[in-house]
Amino acid sequence: MDNRIRLDVNLMMEDSIGARGISRQALNDMMPRLKAAYEMVEANRGKGMQGWMDLPYNQDAILTAIEDTARRIRGEFEAFVVLGIGGSALGPAAVQQALNHLHYNELPAGKRGGPRLYIEDNIDPERMAALLDVIDLKKTCFNVITKSGGTAETMSQYLIVLDALKKAVGDDYKKHILITTSEKKGFLIKIAQREGYETFYIPDGVGGRFSELCPVGLIAAAVTGIDIRGLIAGAKDMDQRCNSGDAMANPALLDAGLSVLAMEKGANISVMLPYADSLKLMSDWYAQLWAESLGKNRTLDGNPCNVGQTPVKTLGVTDQHSQLQLYTEGPFDKMITFLKVEAFHATTPIPHGCDDIPTIAFLGGKSHNQLIEAERQGTEYALYKAGRMSQTITLPEVNANTVGQLLYFFELVTAYAGALLNIDAFNQPGVEESKVASYAVMGYESDVHTAKREEMKNRPAPKAEYIF
Ligand code: PA5
Repeated sequence: MDNRIRLDVNLMMEDSIGARGISRQALNDMMPRLKAAYEMVEANRGKGMQGWMDLPYNQDAILTAIEDTARRIRGEFEAFVVLGIGGSALGPAAVQQALNHLHYNELPAGKRGGPRLYIEDNIDPERMAALLDVIDLKKTCFNVITKSGGTAETMSQYLIVLDALKKAVGDDYKKHILITTSEKKGFLIKIAQREGYETFYIPDGVGGRFSELCPVGLIAAAVTGIDIRGLIAGAKDMDQRCNSGDAMANPALLDAGLSVLAMEKGANISVMLPYADSLKLMSDWYAQLWAESLGKNRTLDGNPCNVGQTPVKTLGVTDQHSQLQLYTEGPFDKMITFLKVEAFHATTPIPHGCDDIPTIAFLGGKSHNQLIEAERQGTEYALYKAGRMSQTITLPEVNANTVGQLLYFFELVTAYAGALLNIDAFNQPGVEESKVASYAVMGYESDVHTAKREEMKNRPAPKAEYIF
């Protein structure tokens, strides 16, 4: 079987959908910009914040170490809990859902690849209590993941878990904690060294949202029995397929170009529409990658700009019954990316029945496999007929290799799109304001936070007339 994922952009183009599509001329005119974007990304490969481009090639020893640790964890624990947020959680969740059973945690232990997996990426006060209700601390390993080593959400979770573990297992608490963080920066590495926790490192040049293919994502994957070498091999395959400055020979570069041309035509929204439950959380992972990387207000030359494309997370066929009306008849402000799966891991035949109602009886003898693809094609047609831009990425099957290809494909598209938009796709200054303001609200004393608290007092007081 050809395991390569495929990109079909016909329905992005004017030739197919009419004037709202992208003209071949516009694409041809963009070729020099695309080549320059490719060269810029290549020039920075492995440098600065582009260390993620090395991950398919430089992790042999780390993969072995992760597999050894995963084996030990599988032998010792019944539950594995990821404490992390943003890039430290979305990738592990997407890969877990893609490559393990859709009800993995509910399977009996003998049918699972490893311990139950929980990914705790929020600080809703009820969340930790709920987790503690369903795990046995004596049989649980916690993977604390934070690149900066100081993220309030993750570190507050760490403090809660540390306290709970000390009460539950005493001095053995250290065996229940695994750290994934920067080797040289941040508070967590210092804590890890002081406590002697087993630790894996996030390379300096790998930012949160580009970190799924390093220990951030690979540990949880290996612990639950996922083939992490397959993920990496898929990423490597994709990197090598995209080894050209000619967009017609580099699918990620072409996709970045069409996305930017779509933005220039007013498509400010990118809808990710997987037709497979296993890829539902891939939309969440993609949303962070696309939003946090491209949503910027300064060009690389320091000039003001406000660029980006709002990602929307959806699921086919479910969202046909909630959002498709808007997509077909609402504003022309979207491009839609279908994720299509050719071979599902299960075949679900539809039994015969309701013989007296021909429309329902017609479904008998068919399968959910046929129905989901027919509905995807029906949606694609409805969008085409309404002159809406869409494209399809086909996965021959959802397996470690194709998921590795898909993750790396979107990372490359994002990097190229950042270069085309002339922005830094690898920073996130807009997130900092909220972090500092949150600590200021909590009463933290430091020059920065005290000043921020004062600044916050100066905003206009809420008017009673607007509050009901
Ligand atoms: O992509 C990013 O850099 C962010 O989304 C981070 O992943 C997120 O803020 C969590 O940061 P950290 O890993 O430092 O806790």
